[in-house]
Amino acid sequence: MLVLGIESSCDETAVAILSQNKNILSNIVSSQVSLHQQYGGVVPEVAARAHLKLMAVTLEQALNIAQIKLTDVSAIAGVIGPGLYGSLLIGSTTAKTLALALNKPFIAVNHLEAHILTPRLLYNIEFPYLALLISGGHTMFVAVEHINKYQILGTTIDDALGEAYDKTARLLGYPYPGGKHIEALSNQGEPGLFKFKSPLYNKHGCNFSFSGLKTAVAQQIHQLASTNSLLENAPHIAKAFEETILITLSHKTQVAIQQFTQQYGKLNNFIVSGGVAANLNIRNCLQKLIVSQKANFYAPSAEYCGDNAAMVAWAGLEKLTLGFSSNLNTPVKPNLRIEDNININDNNQEL
Ligand code: KG4
Ligand code: ZN
Repeated sequence: MLVLGIESSCDETAVAILSQNKNILSNIVSSQVSLHQQYGGVVPEVAARAHLKLMAVTLEQALNIAQIKLTDVSAIAGVIGPGLYGSLLIGSTTAKTLALALNKPFIAVNHLEAHILTPRLLYNIEFPYLALLISGGHTMFVAVEHINKYQILGTTIDDALGEAYDKTARLLGYPYPGGKHIEALSNQGEPGLFKFKSPLYNKHGCNFSFSGLKTAVAQQIHQLASTNSLLENAPHIAKAFEETILITLSHKTQVAIQQFTQQYGKLNNFIVSGGVAANLNIRNCLQKLIVSQKANFYAPSAEYCGDNAAMVAWAGLEKLTLGFSSNLNTPVKPNLRIEDNININDNNQEL
């Protein structure tokens, strides 16, 4: 069985082909980053038009690299949300059209569930597990009970972590997306020269808030710029910003583990995923914490942290194996929540 996955929720046009035995035959990501860089962030209309232009060539490339024909595909998985409306429309319509034309099942996939199920594609991880999803649009702890059974334990009340990285990078003069630049800069910085408060440290369980930190960093940067001392201090600012993030993530992860344990018993497996999970400082810090709690730590390799279609094909395969698929009239939902039902079972019943 071969599952074709399509992802187009934001600014990556991605197509992947995955076999039943977890062999990733192809995983093509056509990035639009250079198109959006001049605006400092993703412009929805520009993204939708670019998806339209890139979708067919990306699909063709994925088939060529996998050395298969479209008719060899057994099912098509496509992301229907959350994300940008126009962008989602291109990928999900492509997936549904292929399913209709090939007379094969269509499996609607939630972008967030694809991120948090990815580690199961790369490692053998049993349910239930605790997932920390950190990306450009989302920051949340999810108890992953089973496929289609997810419970949010905590989330951000304002900005996503990737957004905080991108905004800090922009203030320091780096292009979008700025996360990796801040990581590199922070590695050159000296610890302790600047200090920012860890947001919501002892409040609101394992929920996050990053907008206050963003403002504090912005004020510090403006103050340094006004005295012409920003350039030499930029690495130290990045260091202080990242140290605050590490303190916050460590503390909130401990709170989330307590919450998880109360409901599901001892934590055996912890995963971190999403674009920001490519950050080695964050991975190392969380790994130390999780190992000290006698649990297993998993993080996808960098190419599977950011948006890709292998994660969509995998979520589709997981669902299909359990008898779940979706109606072709399943609409695009820009605000889709991870708890929302988007699948039907073998008997064509909504779940
Ligand atoms: O998962 P993703 O590709 O897209 C969304 O679903 O949002 O995540 C993109 C985010 C961007 O904010 C980017 O700056 C951040 O991931 N990112 C990083 C790193 N690499 C990517 N943030 C911090 N450190 C990194 N090394
Ligand atoms: Zn994502």
